[in-house]
Amino acid sequence: MSGLKLLGTGSGVPSEILTNDDLAKLVDTSDEWITTRTGISSRRRCAPGETHTQLCLTAARQALDRAGLNPEQIGVCVVATLTPDRLTPAAACVLQKELGLGEDTVCFDLNAACSGFVYALYTAQCLLAAAPRKYGLVLGAEVLSRVTDYTDRGTCVLFGDGAGAAVVEWREDYPSIHAVLGCRGNTESLLIPGVAVGVPSYIHMDGQPVFRFAVEVVPQCITQVLDKAGISLDDVDRFVFHQANQRIIDMVVKKLKLPVEKCTGNIARRGNTSAASVPLLLDELVRGGSLRSGQRALCVGFGGGLTWAGALLELA
Ligand code: ACO
Repeated sequence: MSGLKLLGTGSGVPSEILTNDDLAKLVDTSDEWITTRTGISSRRRCAPGETHTQLCLTAARQALDRAGLNPEQIGVCVVATLTPDRLTPAAACVLQKELGLGEDTVCFDLNAACSGFVYALYTAQCLLAAAPRKYGLVLGAEVLSRVTDYTDRGTCVLFGDGAGAAVVEWREDYPSIHAVLGCRGNTESLLIPGVAVGVPSYIHMDGQPVFRFAVEVVPQCITQVLDKAGISLDDVDRFVFHQANQRIIDMVVKKLKLPVEKCTGNIARRGNTSAASVPLLLDELVRGGSLRSGQRALCVGFGGGLTWAGALLELA
């Protein structure tokens, strides 16, 4: 054995609430279409002046506080994101300064789109095994409103902003997170051209192939994580799905015959926040008492890349 336990979580959520009715004033859509096709009623969006850094700092401070740790105790800080405030320095480097993490803390950003947080957890597990300090700060944070085209009804109704943070501890006698990570390189179905085009750059998504991809890979990923861990579906206390579309989650629940009460989410209020989605939900579950000490969550992300990632995380 050797692996991670979750010590504390936190959230950074922007102030502005963008409802389906607000979006219906911008594009040809309706609350009825968005709710029935996605499960989303509203999402949060950064107001002018609100930044990725602020969201990260709020989430990270809460997580450190709840874990009962000082910033100097952190050995590794990884931020999963595709929308940082700057391409460089990395969001994790900004956190090093603002939080007062040690200068020998390993700090970097990671882009695996909506699978990013679980990719970052696995990365933290590997790095902490070799690090002198065994506590990791792992975030998923996005300001997707910066890359959302509010004239494209096929994408703008989906995305929201936010940051979620987790403080984890690595120990010899803790269980591995049994991560299963994957990638099927695809530059057609889901992309943000970014600096390559040098002009404002928006998310392009061909929704249906991505939907089919998710319904194919998520059940496979869950089964592989359980096989690796040598446990069954019944041994999982909570399934923490990337909140992309309620219909994707419903289809996975049906395919694997999962108990619905173990799969509740927050998509109705948060929308799809990409890398922030899993840690934001994890934080809500921990704070709401739905994930308690000694319980195990199976976290699953999927999205741009195309990527997928699943891992088990036990609450200390
Ligand atoms: N309001 C009203 N009508 C709409 C809207 C809207 N907001 N968006 C699309 N439509 C219309 C389309 O134009 C189409 O009309 P037509 O039949 O006249 O051509 C019709 O609705 C159906 O469109 P579809 O694209 O087939 O709708 P679908 O049911 O597939 O839902 C959606 C679209 C919500 C995007 C869905 O495909 C989806 O959720 N895909 C997966 C998204 C995902 O998981 N992404 C991964 C993470 S994102 C990341 O990594 C950054």
